[in-house]
Amino acid sequence: MVTPWDVEGKDGEGIDYDKLVRDFGCSTIDEKMIERIERVTGVRAHPFLRRGMFFAHRELDIILDAYERGEKFYLYTGRGPSSESLHLGHLIPFHFTKWLQDAFKVPLVIQLTDDEKFLWKDLTLEECGRLARENAKDIIACGFDPKRTFIFSDVQYMSTPLYQNMMKIAKCVTLNQVRGIFGFTGESNIGQVGFPPTQAAPSFPDCFPHMFGESKTSLRCLIPCAIDQDPYFRMTRDVAPRIGGYKPALIESRFFPALKGESGKMSASDATSAIYVTDTPKEIKSKVNKYAFSGGQLTVEDHRRLGGDLNTDISWKWLNFFLDDDEELAKIGEEYSSGRMLSGEIKAKLIETLIPICQGHQDAREKVTEETIDAFMSTQPRVFASLFGDMGDVAGALDESVSNSKPGVAIGAPEPEGPMKKQQDKAQTGEDGGQMSKSQMKKLLKEQQIAEKKRAKAEAKAAAAAN
Ligand code: TYM
Repeated sequence: MVTPWDVEGKDGEGIDYDKLVRDFGCSTIDEKMIERIERVTGVRAHPFLRRGMFFAHRELDIILDAYERGEKFYLYTGRGPSSESLHLGHLIPFHFTKWLQDAFKVPLVIQLTDDEKFLWKDLTLEECGRLARENAKDIIACGFDPKRTFIFSDVQYMSTPLYQNMMKIAKCVTLNQVRGIFGFTGESNIGQVGFPPTQAAPSFPDCFPHMFGESKTSLRCLIPCAIDQDPYFRMTRDVAPRIGGYKPALIESRFFPALKGESGKMSASDATSAIYVTDTPKEIKSKVNKYAFSGGQLTVEDHRRLGGDLNTDISWKWLNFFLDDDEELAKIGEEYSSGRMLSGEIKAKLIETLIPICQGHQDAREKVTEETIDAFMSTQPRVFASLFGDMGDVAGALDESVSNSKPGVAIGAPEPEGPMKKQQDKAQTGEDGGQMSKSQMKKLLKEQQIAEKKRAKAEAKAAAAAN
């Protein structure tokens, strides 16, 4: 059973991902697609892709087709702030999203669903808001580019464009449908039943005019997440054409298993199933040794004879996520399954791998100040072109000199339709269809700003004359 709130394998067994892909109707990611990603980005695939952790997708091929044509897209992911800090499982989508952001050089929005957690957990709304900021520190510590990233909490950011999208989506979905998709019952509170459009809406770029402008089709959206979030986006994709938007594409991961075994996902609310990014080396050592489910045999003699079971051994599974070195990983698999490596030894290897990851994360988190969080959450309009490709420094230079002509809207962003659409195409591809140089881009932005200023002046003059 997999919903955004519960994940459980049948009779304590592992999760049947093939069945999930069939039931949910997504596609698996094959070697060809991984090669294609490497080709279009010019970057070696992340180990999570190479090793099949991110294993399923919806219309990722369409994103790649568009990207190859020179069209841009943005990334959207999120976190439900229900605990003080993230556990290792949560790092999976965020580390992978960071890799996607760097590889494709695209902007990212991160939703913190403090409202969702308030509706589902025994927490006050204010506490969920506090946890959202705490979790934002962990997310920022994953190394996102502040120039291209917007983090928002639902309660704080709720704004006209976001609300408009939510309402348009809500009107397209019946109670019977959300019952079918999410398993709501007569006992569900009506906040829960009404929540899905809140997570669906950020799939449309006009929810973020300060980043992407006011057009619903200015950009396509790609959502990295674990497969538990799929129901939200199945609903979103169904509604998208009816509200005039693109269907969001998805790239989905397996679950990072709980310490105690494969039958569920790691849960933030069960300390014995999870290692938190804030755990000390001592805590990591003690939890792994005490709780990590072992695929080793009961006696050393049996183990040497029969070897460890890689299908159930949690240390092995975790090493697959976090040990970078492909060769070393293969060697460990060989040694352990043949019985030459003992259960205590593979656990020691895991502990040795996790400690620097958690310490590195804690050091980065330490450096995140309240001001850093505010900067990531700022709704100050950005220069649209600066969010893509190598244009960050160009637009950074323009940032200071430019006063925006339309309050709250990204500078140079495409308009809903009409002449600006053409300008956007021009901005992205250059007159001759090739990529623009930085100086061409700078010139175009300046022209746009001058035109905007002239327009605003003319409007002010006309208004004064009318009075
Ligand atoms: P949340 O806070 O439950 O989880 C945050 C992200 O982590 C993924 N995840 C995992 N990935 C691998 N192994 C695990 N054991 C594991 N547990 C959780 C989740 O799939 C998610 O990607 N409602 C969402 C927040 C949200 C969101 C989004 C997530 C809002 N908008 C858009 C993804 C995309 C939630 O409560 O996530």
